[in-house]
Amino acid sequence: MINQEKFNLLEEKNKNALAGGGKERINKQHAKSKLTARERVELLLDKGSFQELGRFVTHRSQDFGLDKNIPLGDGVVTGYGTVNGRLIYIFSQDFTIFGGSLAEAHAEKIVKIMDLAMKNGAPLIGLNDSGGARIQEGVVSLGGYADIFYRNTLASGVVPQISAIMGPCAGGAVYSPAITDFNIMVENSSYMFVTGPNVVKTVTHEEVTSEELGGASTHSTKSGVAHFTAENDLDALNKIKKLLTYIPQNCEETAPDTDYETNNEANPQLNEIVPENPNQPYDIRDVICKVIDTKSFFEVHENYAGNIVVGFARLAGKSIGIIANQPMYLAGVLDIESSKKGARFVRFCDAFNIPLLVFEDVPGFLPGTDQEWRAIITNGAKLLYAFSEATVPRITVITRKAYGGAYDVMNSKHIGADLNFAWPTAEIAVMGAKGAAEIIFKREISSSENPETKLKEKEDEYNRMFANPYIAAARGYIDEIIKPEDTRTRLIKGFKMLENKADKLPKKKHGNIPL
Ligand code: HXC
Repeated sequence: MINQEKFNLLEEKNKNALAGGGKERINKQHAKSKLTARERVELLLDKGSFQELGRFVTHRSQDFGLDKNIPLGDGVVTGYGTVNGRLIYIFSQDFTIFGGSLAEAHAEKIVKIMDLAMKNGAPLIGLNDSGGARIQEGVVSLGGYADIFYRNTLASGVVPQISAIMGPCAGGAVYSPAITDFNIMVENSSYMFVTGPNVVKTVTHEEVTSEELGGASTHSTKSGVAHFTAENDLDALNKIKKLLTYIPQNCEETAPDTDYETNNEANPQLNEIVPENPNQPYDIRDVICKVIDTKSFFEVHENYAGNIVVGFARLAGKSIGIIANQPMYLAGVLDIESSKKGARFVRFCDAFNIPLLVFEDVPGFLPGTDQEWRAIITNGAKLLYAFSEATVPRITVITRKAYGGAYDVMNSKHIGADLNFAWPTAEIAVMGAKGAAEIIFKREISSSENPETKLKEKEDEYNRMFANPYIAAARGYIDEIIKPEDTRTRLIKGFKMLENKADKLPKKKHGNIPL
């Protein structure tokens, strides 16, 4: 981890520079937590590993007085180095130079390291702190952004791309992070918006602060643009370091293994988690944490779409991606936001050879006009499509409910999962017993002398028939009904068996995921 003592020293230095009106102009508003572009690079990379490229690059602009202000490096530090001994390429924008704004030379520097990252198969890290397109350079700045967006797109799925937002990022400065795989936002000192509060006020007459419009809290809870938030710059850099440990260098490789403890493989505590009452919630994170290697869960999108939990973990030292319905939040129902969240994570893992583990307890898709009018059909299909297309090893454990279309969507055997396990508490059916009984026994119930008793009787009958995993197991849709305590052991063996899985999609230019 990054040395806290070193961080404190750097922060103190920043404060002093500001207090004395020093040369290093730190952003007025956020001086207390912002490090300089170079300090950020230094803290992220292994000591002494950073090799700078393009330090002497300058802009060529003559307009608006720029000919009298020609700083070396043009507002961005670029180069390569190692994090925990693994090669990465990095750019770090310097807000103290023209607000970190991007123009021709600044863009060329970033493009150069993007091309190197692609050719050499190593992650690209962007530390963003920019007022967007440099206004003085006009269309040249827009062209520079487009050159970067184009490469972000070509690099997508080839090398991991991680963006940290470490200051105000406006206009073009948000679209490159938007295309990258993960966005980490620093709380109270970073913003992302296409147009800032002033423009918003002019156009829509809304009064909104930068923080409300595009702060870390907004993007990690409301929009989902931010996958992680960080307390300060140091925390953001530590999170990048941690994230890198779960992912490979490029799409041809696998993530690095770590040591793990082999004892205590069976965990009887798992037998106690699912409550007797099928309508009582429980925290799926308890299941996850009792199955994976100790303290290895690294949750993504922790505060967004809480009805699905996604994140990286390790199982027997190997990196896996977990997607799990969360009965604690909206009963674990699938809706628009959770489908999009799940789909994006599945696609990242599949692109980078990270096996998928699904924990399923889902009562179905969320009904209602709000969901239908905002296209739950198209958005729910994203998750279905993402799982169907994934060729990495895929295992599902049904802990309780697997109802309706959500049964199909949540990594069922029918859409390509390799192994599907169910706990004895699993209920696999088209819908819940009450709804089902009301539909199929409608006439019998209404013509009965006591409709309520009849409904209960039919509900019980349906439950006896379907609220279990045995019919699905008899058809082979479920490979094994396992004791909860054996889950870890079965998963380790399952993923080991699938280690050399080779699966290919039909030849095509690309698919057409319902966007
Ligand atoms: C040139 C810029 C700049 C920009 C900031 N600066 N943004 N210079 N081009 N885009 C300069 C300021 O003039 C100032 O210079 C210094 O950076 C710091 O800016 P401040 O405003 O003093 O800082 P702060 O109060 O923290 O506000 C930061 C900010 C604000 C929120 C980013 O500067 C801002 O709103 N800038 C414009 C953002 C914007 O509209 N960008 C969109 C451009 S269009 P001095 O000399 O005073 O220190 C675009 C389109 C691309 O990006 C589309 C692609 C899809």
